[in-house]
Amino acid sequence: MTPDRSLPIAMFDSGVGGLTVLHECLVSLPTEDFLYLGDSANFPYGTKSPEELRELVVANTELLLDRGAKLLVVACNSATSAGAEEARRIAGAHGVEVVTVIGPEAEIAAAITETGRVGVLATPATVEGGAYHRALEAQGRGLEVTEVAAPDLAPIIQNGFPFDQAVVDKVRSYCEPLRAASIDTLILGCTHYPLVAPMLQRILGRDVRLVTAGHAIAASAQRILEAGSLEAGSGEEGEYRFLCTGDVESFRELGTRFLQMPLGPVERL
Ligand code: DGL
Repeated sequence: MTPDRSLPIAMFDSGVGGLTVLHECLVSLPTEDFLYLGDSANFPYGTKSPEELRELVVANTELLLDRGAKLLVVACNSATSAGAEEARRIAGAHGVEVVTVIGPEAEIAAAITETGRVGVLATPATVEGGAYHRALEAQGRGLEVTEVAAPDLAPIIQNGFPFDQAVVDKVRSYCEPLRAASIDTLILGCTHYPLVAPMLQRILGRDVRLVTAGHAIAASAQRILEAGSLEAGSGEEGEYRFLCTGDVESFRELGTRFLQMPLGPVERL
């Protein structure tokens, strides 16, 4: 069964972090429609157990497929780490392919590191799940990987991050093991983190390259649409819509900052 090409590309995250992925997709695939689910009522995902995360992935995937989607993007590392297979199984039964984070960043990091010393900054759920470890090992370069779990970073960002000295000190403490390991490449292993990229770059120094998922996800979505002849046919600029399980006003306000474009209507679930 092939999905209808006029359907939107659906994506979800625990909140506004996935908007950093949506932003890249809007730029790379301007004629596509998008439907974004921010599951902010269940934020944070990053401290949940694998079982809890799998349940949320199942619920989000089913909800978005019920609304109608021709491709699903899991724009959350914590959800990908525990539930990518579940999402693929459910979407696959509808003939819908799934694009996830983690794999693309591992490929980019392995390709650009010169010293082979790669850092990963992610939520506790993502680090404990070991998905980055496996994805980086699969690159076959014998990389030296330093992973740091940052339990407070996504909540600071999701809550609107007033950037005070306490936040800088917190981020600095997460960076300490990465500096000690002399990494030359850092994977931002949570879709919320591109928002603190300037702070990370200042603390780690300009020579450390920061790897995010957005661009690779957009490229991968484009390849899948082309291969399945699923591209939007109209040639006109597409639309994007939002669903939110939590407080709509704070999602809209913070989301506008993340997307750097107006959000428009947000449907409360
Ligand atoms: N944006 C989510 C991720 O990529 C994490 C935020 C959270 O803890 O919910 O892992």
